[in-house]
Amino acid sequence: MYTLHTGHVVTPLTGVDDLLDLPGGGVVVDRSDGTVEAVGKASDLRKAYPDATVADHGDRLIVPGFVDCHVHYPQLGMIASPGEELLDWLDRYTFPAEARFADEAWAQTRARLFTDQLIAHGVTTACVFSTVHKGSADALFRAAHDRNLRIITGKTCMDRNAPDELLDTPDSAVADSLDLLERWHGVGRLEYAVSPRFAPTSSDAQLRALGELAAAHPDVVIQTHLAENLGECRWVAELFPDAADYTDVYDAAGLVRRRAVFGHAVHLSDRETGRLAEAHASLAHCPTSNSFLGSGLFPLHDTAFAGGDDLRIGLGSDVGAGTSLSPLTTAGEAYKVSRLLGSPLSVAELLRLSTLGGAEALGVADSVGSLEVGKDADLVVLDPASSPVLEQRAEQCTTTAELLFALMILGDDRAVSAVAVAGDTVDRAA
Ligand code: GUN
Ligand code: ZN
Repeated sequence: MYTLHTGHVVTPLTGVDDLLDLPGGGVVVDRSDGTVEAVGKASDLRKAYPDATVADHGDRLIVPGFVDCHVHYPQLGMIASPGEELLDWLDRYTFPAEARFADEAWAQTRARLFTDQLIAHGVTTACVFSTVHKGSADALFRAAHDRNLRIITGKTCMDRNAPDELLDTPDSAVADSLDLLERWHGVGRLEYAVSPRFAPTSSDAQLRALGELAAAHPDVVIQTHLAENLGECRWVAELFPDAADYTDVYDAAGLVRRRAVFGHAVHLSDRETGRLAEAHASLAHCPTSNSFLGSGLFPLHDTAFAGGDDLRIGLGSDVGAGTSLSPLTTAGEAYKVSRLLGSPLSVAELLRLSTLGGAEALGVADSVGSLEVGKDADLVVLDPASSPVLEQRAEQCTTTAELLFALMILGDDRAVSAVAVAGDTVDRAA
């Protein structure tokens, strides 16, 4: 019934700035309900739980399952497509790749591959875009359910400015979203996200219809893109001449609220940041994507300072504009961007953004994001000896912060040696 994972436990804690740093630590998992039973010194836990099955990870790090706040599962197959900026990249690579998801068998295969890869990269919670096709969201829900991942997704809604085969209508968007919501929201660890792609591909009528749907279901997530690229921002100003700014387009439709997760938000005015904080909305910082498409440098420090505790910020891989599913790589890129902006993030901040901060941004921090008693037993074991370069660097690290930092700059899925998803240890070879 119990599994005791022993190793070097490192986790953020709710309401505490510092990380818990426990070499020779352990996490007891209750396999009967998939939650964390105890966290502490391994020697104490061995005595307290003498019948537990022991999984000894030696000196490896045991951290919470990672949280990806913004990722597109249909884009995994076209990751690393060398487009120009956002709008060109969407037309040339993204829309054709997404059109293939009209085929449900294709969607099911890709959803299984994607969810297996999330686990391989140590991601146990994610807020994910599907395609416009209802079957694509359905396929992801099913694959996530089979693996017991905590996945938030929904049908992408888009009724203009895209190829005809990828368009829905305001009515069909609401009907399909509602059907999926009723079938999947709250099933196991799954939740629904009302998902207008972004303002340029939704008419005002569609945004308002989705706002009404969200108002009728105040507990669901909303996800979309906001102020990622300057060309996109100019286009939005032309398409919505009556809106005060980009954020106001969503606000007027009732789409700015708690658990509304806005990807990118690179180019916000002070008014927009203030309004997003006032509404207790969330942002997903997607640094590898912003660099890859040349979208800009998200001013995390300034935005977090201006938004205060009311504006929650997590990290998103944003694959396929993002260049890696690895939260280690994403954290490493977030560090580099923060360096370029002159306000470098600390290792503790980076780990928090990748775990508990992301969970807070998605509104699931009661269940995941840290290794604390009663939370879902999602944990990742990181192996600093997983590549020769990392191994020789790790040997010279003298602090936990240095070691974690080296993992973020040099590590990727190879560094993930084991993952427990709600208490079940998943074979990394799977
Ligand atoms: N804005 C609208 N759609 C997308 C997308 O698929 N990826 C990114 N990075 N930005 C978008
Ligand atoms: Zn995106």
